[in-house]
Amino acid sequence: MLSLPVLLSSCDQDTQDRRLPRIPGPDFKADAQNGRVLFSANCAKCHGENLRGTNNGPPFLNKAYRPGHHGDMAFHLAVSTGVKQHHWKFGDMPAVAGLSGEDVANIIAYVRFEQQKAGIK
Ligand code: HEC
Repeated sequence: MLSLPVLLSSCDQDTQDRRLPRIPGPDFKADAQNGRVLFSANCAKCHGENLRGTNNGPPFLNKAYRPGHHGDMAFHLAVSTGVKQHHWKFGDMPAVAGLSGEDVANIIAYVRFEQQKAGIK
């Protein structure tokens, strides 16, 4: 049987992992190509291949998600804490486990690259 301290410390760890976004330092160079692969594996089932949205989540090629309205921190927070339904009627977004701050920064680089191509600035 697990002792109580072990149980408590593993719970703390878990909470920390889920709630605190880890933002990479200023020297980190985000890689949009890697972000495309990560997006496809972790986000596309709701936000759609090519960011076009699905029945489960909104498109990012939408003015609402331009950098000035949903900055990079909104992405880090969405992944680490999830999102309560507020802009749309798709329901809540659950937190996405298993992505580092660098992974999320790469995903953001991919999203911004595609937004720029679509004229969303
Ligand atoms: C299970 C479906 C689902 C998955 C998987 C998912 N999302 Fe979401 N996401 C949503 C929904 C639904 C919303 C819209 C909530 C609202 O505003 O009503 C949302 C909203 C967002 C927002 C806007 C947050 C805000 O502040 O309004 C961001 C940023 C985001 N998602 C990023 C991501 C990223 C990055 C991934 C992959 C790592 C991802 N999502 C995976 C369903 C999902």
